[in-house]
Amino acid sequence: METGNLSVWLDGKMMNYNEAKVPILTHSLQYGSGIFEGIRAYKTNSGVAVFRLKDHVKRFFETAKIYSMKLGFSAEELEKAIVEVVRTNKLESCYIRPFAFYSDDGIGMNTAGKHVSVFIAAVPFGAYFGGGIEKGIRCKTSSWRRINSDILPIRAKASGNYLNSIIAGNEAHAAGFDEAILLSHNGYIAEGPGENIFVVRNGRLLTPGGESDILFGITRDSLIKIARKEGMEVVETSLHREELYIADEVFFSGTAAEITPITNIDGTIIADGAPGPITKRLATRYRDIISGNDSEYMDWLTSI
Ligand SMILES: Cc1ncc(COP(=O)(O)O)c(C=O)c1O
Repeated sequence: METGNLSVWLDGKMMNYNEAKVPILTHSLQYGSGIFEGIRAYKTNSGVAVFRLKDHVKRFFETAKIYSMKLGFSAEELEKAIVEVVRTNKLESCYIRPFAFYSDDGIGMNTAGKHVSVFIAAVPFGAYFGGGIEKGIRCKTSSWRRINSDILPIRAKASGNYLNSIIAGNEAHAAGFDEAILLSHNGYIAEGPGENIFVVRNGRLLTPGGESDILFGITRDSLIKIARKEGMEVVETSLHREELYIADEVFFSGTAAEITPITNIDGTIIADGAPGPITKRLATRYRDIISGNDSEYMDWLTSI
């Protein structure tokens, strides 16, 4: 990645990317004890705007609370810092990564009393899967189960959780698929490695709920609100794997993935193998909202 000219925010100060260094024995590097957010900003007709900034920062603080991590900054300070990073780098459509970590080095695992650092970096970012809304992706149900709250707090967006995502992704990619779909410990559909999942069936929108070990995605929440306001029935429910095979439409949602149609699961073609009309309609509405072209949802945008 081209980072030489990037400015990042670390513990209250803007600095060049190359100046922001950590010791190799940093706790969070060794033990996966960092926590993070993934946020997007988009170019709109009236400048660049961050999508659902306050909600992302709120989830960041919730993750920190779960791990008793004291961030040392208020939500308002971090919101301002996120805006500053995008503005300073003169970024337009970009991905923003706030990250908090135990910056003390050493071997001990105990986090009590360890120093917490926070950085914010942002990089130009386009489509995550590359295919756009016209082209669906192929997914593989993973042989790895989603971690669940008996093992690790699934509501927390913590680095360690992503080893589960990475191994599921590795398996899917090695088998020639674009992405994995993980089942929860009780065998229901949970989510993708970094995406929530939706099914369209008989005009209703179905998506796994909290009992299926999901991260409560902000894009998921946005789509539920948009669809309900449009008069669609949205049901948060447990879904068996075969319910995806016989769905009318299936798609992923996420900050990175945005809305990504899934047209093939485990070799089974979903409906006629092309992105469906409801997926496309929601994706178009979502695109209008993030681009500042929808007056109903302007409060989801924070101008830079
Ligand atoms: C495991 C997981 N599920 C779902 C999502 C989607 O969440 P959001 O829409 O807030 O990006 C993400 C991405 O953050 C994720 O990492």
